[in-house]
Amino acid sequence: MSGLLKVTDLQRSSIDGLLAAARGHLDGGRSEALAGAIVALVFAEDSVRTRVGFDVAAARLGARTTTAFGPKHTSRMSSQESLEDLTRCLEPGCDVICLRHHDRTAPQRAAAAVATPIVNCGNGDDEHPTQALVDIFAIDALRGEVDGVSIAIVGDLRHMRAAHSLLAGLSRFEGVRARCVSPPELAMPEPYATQFSAAGNELEQTTQMDVGNVEIVYMTGLPADTPHGHLSKEIRARYRLDRRGLEDLAPGARVLCPLPRVDEIDPDVDTTPFAAYFQQNALGLAMRMAILEHVAAPGENGSRHG
Ligand code: CP
Repeated sequence: MSGLLKVTDLQRSSIDGLLAAARGHLDGGRSEALAGAIVALVFAEDSVRTRVGFDVAAARLGARTTTAFGPKHTSRMSSQESLEDLTRCLEPGCDVICLRHHDRTAPQRAAAAVATPIVNCGNGDDEHPTQALVDIFAIDALRGEVDGVSIAIVGDLRHMRAAHSLLAGLSRFEGVRARCVSPPELAMPEPYATQFSAAGNELEQTTQMDVGNVEIVYMTGLPADTPHGHLSKEIRARYRLDRRGLEDLAPGARVLCPLPRVDEIDPDVDTTPFAAYFQQNALGLAMRMAILEHVAAPGENGSRHG
């Protein structure tokens, strides 16, 4: 299996390699590294950043993309055809399959069905490993290294897949201090918390909107309607970042967000030196190029699937 299903598929050396490769793409240049390759974009849920990001990243590497199906067609097609059959039919012509799906088991099922590398672009409320790599790349770019970072991760940590993968990815680094901030019923799931702490990093979990004394504030969002129930306006307001809330931040702290933003960050924050989320988004192209190169690298026999 040469794809990317979970961020913890990657050892620290592989993440370091991806960070180095992404840095090499920051000049915005183009290459022919994947000339002749076809990348399938199979997005059964809405996406702008991830889908367009991989489309553009493929083009910058000389590859072409094909879109297998979009959200509008999902229910009709998925009711008639299994994901396994769909991916088997893509396998002969495609060198990489970028997959977003509402089913948590989708990446593993697709990877079991085909030899083509599967890149998990978000599976239900489970993981979003490519977003985590973009986020880790942003932290690296903002402070020069990821080891030793202090971070507050704020929002619906129970269901937000980007938050799960970020904490899992940070568990590969050393000396990380993470504070998970959420309403009590929307706390970070225990397996991610345990994995992070077991790696020797420091984890604090709180229901207080405490974003002080950290270098990075990662706002994942808190929708009004979560799978766990409706959240009142008052509760959502408690975990929102506005100009007044910036007074609690450490000097030099930076605010990240996987986007799309709903209302977790007041637009007033955008023009302050704390805001780094559009810079983070812009860094995504270089990391997605690095990911495609990583998963599509020819195997020992020269075939792309390895
Ligand atoms: N951050 C993220 O996954 O955005 P999209 O849903 O637009 O891909």
